[in-house]
Amino acid sequence: MSTLPIERPQGATERLRKAVSMGTLAEMKANREPIAMVTAYDHPSACVADAAGVEMILVGDSAAMVVLGHDSTVPITMDEMIMLASAVRRGAKNPLIVGDMPFGSYEASNELAVANAQRFIKEAGCDAIKLEGGGTSAERAAAIVSAGIPVVGHIGLTPQTATALGGYRAQGRTADAAKQVLADAMRLDAAGCFAVVVECVPAAVTELIAERIAAITIGIGAGLATDGQVLVYHDLLGMRDGRDAKFVRRYAELYEEAVNAVSSWGDDVKHGVYPGPEHMYAIEPGELAGLSQTLSS
Ligand code: KIV
Repeated sequence: MSTLPIERPQGATERLRKAVSMGTLAEMKANREPIAMVTAYDHPSACVADAAGVEMILVGDSAAMVVLGHDSTVPITMDEMIMLASAVRRGAKNPLIVGDMPFGSYEASNELAVANAQRFIKEAGCDAIKLEGGGTSAERAAAIVSAGIPVVGHIGLTPQTATALGGYRAQGRTADAAKQVLADAMRLDAAGCFAVVVECVPAAVTELIAERIAAITIGIGAGLATDGQVLVYHDLLGMRDGRDAKFVRRYAELYEEAVNAVSSWGDDVKHGVYPGPEHMYAIEPGELAGLSQTLSS
């Protein structure tokens, strides 16, 4: 396999540095230096995130949809998440890696939650875990924190329970609903979460949350008041066909590029122009003559 030299934008080169710790993130929050978190699900995406210099990687359960082709995040299992998170760990040296607890892996009891959180740390080498929701999830978060594992909360649109929330839509758009989202944020903060993801919440409501909690806030579709932003790798790279959520900005069109590249290769195969001479191995003429002689005798 040949490797092309990577041309990095100036900013990314500046950001290539030592391993990111929770202390680094706290310092960034204190200095109002925005934190970049991206999802990754395998070795290549982890290498890209690492080389790009982001501070945090989320091995999101969105893998169920963008990698495994399910209609929701619900079906992905702990074993599948551990396999993906392990590959990410092998590819990313510097970013702080967060493993996303899948649906069914933490809700039933504190014991179940702690045991599965430990798997992310022990088997996959993650630095922290994330779980969704604010009610009993805050209790689970506190139990996991007590077991010595850093926890990221997730409020607003929580995809694992999207059906109960009325579908994939913004949350906290009425005074009562916003109060509920704020209450969830405060519960997770009190439970000891070091960070909270705020998803699909009006920017003005996010501002009220960010003012009131000590945890690092990471937004997705939640405006600019958070300490950082997260996006799904496949969304920001345009690796998917179809419509994006309102908050997505594509920084590349890799799906289209990949289709064009594979299609050009297929055409070359069909026209006999791939492989070219430069892709073939040679044998010394003397060796070939010897072989022919052996075969004909
Ligand atoms: O699973 C995921 O990718 C997420 C992000 C959308 C925050 O939870």
